Amino acid sequence: MKKIIIANWKTYLTSAQTIALGKYLTEEENVIIAPAMLYLALMKEHFPHLNFSSQDVSSIADQYGAYTGEISAKMLGDIGVKYAIIGHSERRMNLLDNNSTIAAKLSNCMNSSITPIICVGETEEDRQSGKYLEVIEAQLVSIQSLKFERIIIAYEPIWAIGTGIIPSAEQIREIMAFIKSSLDIASNLVLVYGGSVNAENVKNILDISGIDGVLIGKASTDPAHFKLIIDITR
Ligand code: PGA
Repeated sequence: MKKIIIANWKTYLTSAQTIALGKYLTEEENVIIAPAMLYLALMKEHFPHLNFSSQDVSSIADQYGAYTGEISAKMLGDIGVKYAIIGHSERRMNLLDNNSTIAAKLSNCMNSSITPIICVGETEEDRQSGKYLEVIEAQLVSIQSLKFERIIIAYEPIWAIGTGIIPSAEQIREIMAFIKSSLDIASNLVLVYGGSVNAENVKNILDISGIDGVLIGKASTDPAHFKLIIDITR
């Protein structure tokens, strides 16, 4: 299986920049693009051949209904979005995502056949105190009881996101093995690493055993740089 590349464009780009970046990309089954939520439908219309993910999904709106401001999993499915990033650390830290809202989001994804990309990862403090496995185990609790056909888990240590710091291969291997052993859904499990991935380090990261792909933020918003990364995984 080709290694998966998930591009999280966060809130980095204008609509014009988002479309310009889309024009650079050709159809690749292993590349999943998560543009800003506002531009998802626009991107799907312009580039129906690309795979898209949302950056979040509503925890409360499962159906169509009176949920002002929400984007439900049903709506994502309606425009052909197949994936949703759930529980990104930027949302856990700043937007009150927690294990209970994440569990609700996962269940909404499941009901609409959206494959979740669940982010887990420890802070630098958790790592220093040696409690990082406990933290990750707690983040995995919301996943345990759900039966997904396929589930993607992104290990994204918070200390590596946007910092240029990459964990050692041994540190990444330990967490990947830990996630696999903590869940009894191993056969449908896709494990990716995220945090400061770029064209220079992506090959080494993908060579680490137990890694099925990468989740890339900033480096995926530069067209030439992103193309280089995609070419490396061909
Ligand atoms: P980064 O972000 O690649 O810019 O570190 C990764 C992420 O937050 O998903």
